Parts: sequence; structure tokens; C-alpha cells
Amino acid sequence: MTYHISPSLLAANWCRLGEDATAALDAGADSLHLDVMDNHYVPNLTVGPMICSALRQYGINKPLSVHLMVQPVDNLISAFALAGASEIIFHPEASAHVDRSLALIKSHNCQAGLAINPASTLDCLTYVLDKLDSVLIMTVNPGFGGQDFIPAMLTKISHLAALRHKHQLQFKLAVDGGIKINNIKQIAAAGADTFIIGSEFFAADNYATVIAKLRHELSR
Ligand code: DX5
Ligand code: ZN
Repeated sequence: MTYHISPSLLAANWCRLGEDATAALDAGADSLHLDVMDNHYVPNLTVGPMICSALRQYGINKPLSVHLMVQPVDNLISAFALAGASEIIFHPEASAHVDRSLALIKSHNCQAGLAINPASTLDCLTYVLDKLDSVLIMTVNPGFGGQDFIPAMLTKISHLAALRHKHQLQFKLAVDGGIKINNIKQIAAAGADTFIIGSEFFAADNYATVIAKLRHELSR
């Protein structure tokens, strides 16, 4: 099993975002996760495509996954694709036409993913599963970093892993929210392979040490 660790820039130091993003990648992160919030779909406000292109101009050249917590999604899908996103993930509740929004992401040669809120079922995936590069299980309610992992999501993760196995698909099974060194092993055991980590990662003095601890947990 190949595990993927993706720090969430939401918890980075925004006054020196380029340096923090570079340091996260230099420490061994596989990609970066950019949380886009609109104070409408979620009760918080973060950044637009300018920050995505600024990161690219700064020299960030590893995969940049953009997590859209906005409604509607289509205009911002195109804007973030042009700003250098590698992957764009949105919440199906926020698009009137999910299949069309997925096709729009693909038309920009970006990877496409859907994010599933804690109270939402996996039903919305049924007819688009083969079009997805990732499914992001929200393990907290979207909008804020630093929340506690919701234990009931372990069941959802294992159901999704079984679904992926049944259909012999390869999409990434990502988890976002409340992922820590002390719970990552249990979450991986349920079937997750891609871990978005915000507060625990950027609160650390040494990012390489956090990555080493996370990988150690995943290997034991
Ligand atoms: C929550 C965001 C997450 C968040 C994760 O809406 O989607 O990416 O930043 O942060 P932690 O690890 O602090 O829960
Ligand atoms: Zn996120």
C-alpha cells in the first residue's frame, strides 16, 4: 500500500505561505492541500485562485490539490485550473450538475474528486465512480481546521474501500479533518490511503519529524 500525506495549508503561516509550503514539501509531503471557503457553502472565508497562482509562481511544483468548499463550483473550477491546480475536489451538494462539473475539471486536464460531508451517504458516487481520481471523506464538518475526527466516519471509509475493491477502481481514498499521529493507523486500517493533515502538521517545530512519525505509524 502506498500512502500519501498532504498537509493542509489552512494551518500554515499565511504571512510566509511560500516558505511554509516549500518547507512542507522539503520535509517529504507528497502534495499540498488548499482549502477554499466562501462564507456561503461553509461559514468561513479563505482564498481564491490568486493564491494558487502565487504558490506556483513562487516555485511550488509538486501536486496542489484544491478543495472547493464553495457554491456554485463551475466558475471557480476553471479559475483554479488556470491558476495551476493539479486536482480539484468539490462537494456534490454544491453543484447543480455534478457530472458536468467533473467533466469541466477533466477538460482542464486536472484530476477530479468529490468530497463527502459527515452526514452524507456514498450514494451520490454510484454513477460517477469511474470518473473520479479521488474521493475525500470529510472526517469533520467542513469549514474549520483543528476539529476532532468523527469516529463514525471509520465505517464510511471501510464501505468506500469495499466499493472501490468491488469495482476494481484505483481512486485515492482521502480523509480530511482531525487526522493525527495517534489516529492515522486506525484510519488507514479502515481503508484510507491519502491523509490531509492541517493543525498537527503545521503546529510542529519540525515538519520532517511529523512526517516520519506519521509514516512510522502507517508502517507498523
Ligand atoms: C476543513 C478542511 C481541512 C482542514 C484539516 O474544512 O477541509 O482540510 O484544514 O485541518 P485539521 O487537520 O486541523 O483538521
Ligand atoms: Zn480540506
